Amino acid sequence: MPGYTLAPSILSADFANLQAALGLINRSAADWVHCDVMDGHFVPNLTFGMPVLRALRPHTPKPLDVHLMIEAPERYIDAFADAGADILTVHYEVSPHLHRTLAAIRARGMRPGISLNPSTPVEVLTDILPAADLVLIMSVNPGFGGQQFIEQTYSKLRRLRALADALNPGLVIEVDGGVTLANAGALLAAGATALVAGNAIFGTPDPVATIGQFKAIGPE
Ligand code: DX5
Ligand code: ZN
Repeated sequence: MPGYTLAPSILSADFANLQAALGLINRSAADWVHCDVMDGHFVPNLTFGMPVLRALRPHTPKPLDVHLMIEAPERYIDAFADAGADILTVHYEVSPHLHRTLAAIRARGMRPGISLNPSTPVEVLTDILPAADLVLIMSVNPGFGGQQFIEQTYSKLRRLRALADALNPGLVIEVDGGVTLANAGALLAAGATALVAGNAIFGTPDPVATIGQFKAIGPE
């Protein structure tokens, strides 16, 4: 069974002890570390930015999967590259010059991603898909962990899978928000190749074991 990429979101970890969260991820079968950057403008919440990311960088060998929920993300590409991001995902809804933004991310040695809010159809990506390494489908309205999964996501995933098969077969299709052990298999079957999970991992008594359970799941 070919595996998928699991990216635990440290948004649901103890912010007073992020080093412990990384230690736990390091000991686990998780693939990436999902880092949610929020600006209080694009989304109604604030989290952390480059200084925290830079502090985290030496504590894990795993790729930092940075999800920017900020306005004008192109202003911060160099800063996030310098801080140690490996994957840098910007939102379609705040990126009028997406082709230029993705190229700038790639030029700094990072893998460029595009994220879509639940209300943005995947078809808007038709002309930009070949320039992206990853598309992050939000399955909740961005801003908070622990929200209810939006069922319409399955249809979006199937439509994105078909677009990617035609235009960029190697595209990483990542799902973020309300992902659980119960819906992971169906998301993989609908076309996802990477899953983000926050509450469903850090809200359990033994996150390392939960990550193991997640990684044992295949398309169903
Ligand atoms: C939400 C963030 C997610 C969040 C997911 O805006 O982008 O990455 O951490 O948390 P859960 O898995 O708890 O829905
Ligand atoms: Zn996220």
